[in-house]
Amino acid sequence: MAANEVIRVIKERRSVREYIPKPIPREVLEDIVDCGRLAPSARNLQPWLFVVSTEKQIKEEISKLALYGKFIANAGACISVFCEKDANHLVEDGCAATQNMLIAAKAYGIDSCWVAGYERPYSEDIRKLLGVPEKYKLISLISLGYSDKKVTRDKKTLDEIVRWERY
Ligand SMILES: Cc1cc2nc3c(=O)[nH]c(=O)nc-3n(C[C@H](O)[C@H](O)[C@H](O)COP(=O)(O)O)c2cc1C
Repeated sequence: MAANEVIRVIKERRSVREYIPKPIPREVLEDIVDCGRLAPSARNLQPWLFVVSTEKQIKEEISKLALYGKFIANAGACISVFCEKDANHLVEDGCAATQNMLIAAKAYGIDSCWVAGYERPYSEDIRKLLGVPEKYKLISLISLGYSDKKVTRDKKTLDEIVRWERY
């Protein structure tokens, strides 16, 4: 992928919460997770664990627990991002991996939405539902799916959020 293609993908990604019922090929999911695996992490600890759920029943159970992630039930897949709770920067590490996967998905023409996972009332229930060992904490949930919806969203302008050299 040429550099300008990466920039386009980053700029065009939006959270999409409605999907068409089209399965995501296994090798595509694997490559998306591989992009999570290659994210930066503090001291290169790579404290993450990614649980990829494609079965209808599991997605439905996750969606029932995730307060603002009901749409996970209709997603092609849900990736639950966990990090070892002893890692010093577990949140940043897990978020870096999450963002890599959102962008990788978009590059494959797959839309996504980041669903909050860290220290939510349902975080432990999702860990237990997925049979993940206690040493991990949930950081985020990623719903993934093909969509026919075009989502636009207001964004701040560059002038509003950048200062050069000093404020
Ligand atoms: C840490 C974090 C938690 C989020 N949690 C949720 C969530 O629980 N449910 C949801 O529908 N969207 C969630 N989002 C998606 C945001 O609502 C979305 O990124 C924001 O509205 C900006 O839209 P965009 O992603 O299209 O740029 C979350 C995003 C982040 C970064």
